[in-house]
Amino acid sequence: MASETEPASLQKLRSLCKRRGLIFQGSEIYQGFANQWDWGPLGVEICRNVREAWWNKFVTSRNDMVGLDSSIITSPRVWEASGHLDSFTDPLVECDRCHGRFPGDKLIEQETGEDLAGHPLDEIDEHIRKNEIACPNCGGELGEARRFHLMFKTHVGPVEDEGSVAYLRPETAQGIFYNFALVQNSMRMRVPFGIAQIGKAFRNEITTGNWIFRTREFEQMEIEFFVEPGTEMEWFDHWQEETWDYFRTLGLSEDKMRWREHSEDELSHYSSRTADLEYYFPWERWGELQGTASRTDYDLRQHQETSGQSLEYQDPMTHEKYLPYVVEPSFGVNRTVLALLCGAYREEEVRGETRVVLALKPDVAPCKVAVFPLSRKDNLTAISNPLFDDLRRRWPAMLDETGSIGKRYRRHDEIGTPYCITVDFDSIDDRKATVRHRDTMEQDRIALDRIPAYLEEKLG
Ligand code: GAP
Repeated sequence: MASETEPASLQKLRSLCKRRGLIFQGSEIYQGFANQWDWGPLGVEICRNVREAWWNKFVTSRNDMVGLDSSIITSPRVWEASGHLDSFTDPLVECDRCHGRFPGDKLIEQETGEDLAGHPLDEIDEHIRKNEIACPNCGGELGEARRFHLMFKTHVGPVEDEGSVAYLRPETAQGIFYNFALVQNSMRMRVPFGIAQIGKAFRNEITTGNWIFRTREFEQMEIEFFVEPGTEMEWFDHWQEETWDYFRTLGLSEDKMRWREHSEDELSHYSSRTADLEYYFPWERWGELQGTASRTDYDLRQHQETSGQSLEYQDPMTHEKYLPYVVEPSFGVNRTVLALLCGAYREEEVRGETRVVLALKPDVAPCKVAVFPLSRKDNLTAISNPLFDDLRRRWPAMLDETGSIGKRYRRHDEIGTPYCITVDFDSIDDRKATVRHRDTMEQDRIALDRIPAYLEEKLG
């Protein structure tokens, strides 16, 4: 789909992310490849912080959750059971003139605001005709919609035939469902409990775009929470509250977050209720960061029937056997980081110059503290090196020895470093250094031996 005009602030953020080592275009030296993006050294650190905050909140801090790391390539029967082989498709429309290909439902949404995800092909065609929607590339006429499968196909083993076909997982969730009984038995879990997983998922999306918002390879953080049938709506509320709290704590502005309930027509084949947590992106559209779905016992039942193995749970008190219902909060790492970057990017006028700041919360920032010796002279590095070694043992830290102090501040403002410490010639006598705060630009002169405790108080 033709990418919407990118707002200036987003263009600036993209160029900052490249310049400062956060996000690179994938295969850049080959002119890029299929809208793939690579995390640079500092982008990796932000992703780790996002994952760690998620794991700490939802796994480590709870008694009713355990983790899992299942395979990306699975038995193809998993996808037969889950329904993905039959129904994981998008309605594809092709331009008769330029042969550009687009997802019909997304084109309609862009033109009319109507959401036709999951609707039959003839309805997509009817809406395209009725609203006179043309090719977004060349204005040509669009052909009839057809189904396009979103799973990436591959072959396992040396022979490429029908018997060796396998798929890259399009969601991490199914690895949790087929491992349900193994996890429950080995860990002696009692319903209600959840299994959490972080990992890559792959979808051969027809349309990508808006930078890293929709890509073909992305990372999910998913929980399948198993509950007694009849209690799923209470748990649905619980997971909505927890989700909101997670994003708020990471630093997203609550004014730019909302819940959107799916209409009956829009629900996925497995869902009885879904609500998306959406964020208002700079391209002036709401976009999904997380989906909370009530999946009933659909997946466990399907896997039980397809595999012929019982996945029933026996209540230890009543001895009643049943298939638990499932509430699924499903998050995306890439979109979370994108929202955090968009929300944190600021430009301020300071003494006639533009200061660019990535005002990330310290927990999310890729580097927490930077040490600047005013010069590389031995009498200063004799102070700055041991200080840096001490700090880097406690927090992600950087030593920056080149350029004027002003330039070094600007570099670190742009990557969101909350504290910068300058060791100057006075430090030799007074055994103090200047701690500069990113957001206020205020400076404190702090005794060298007190700096770790001072930062500990601020950073925790
Ligand atoms: N297991 C349920 C599931 O996969 P989904 O709404 O299709 O539900 C969940 O995906 C989350 O995964 C989304 O909220 C989004 O954050 C992320 N996601 C999905 N498709 C994506 C894509 N093509 N690129 C980046 N992130 C994506």
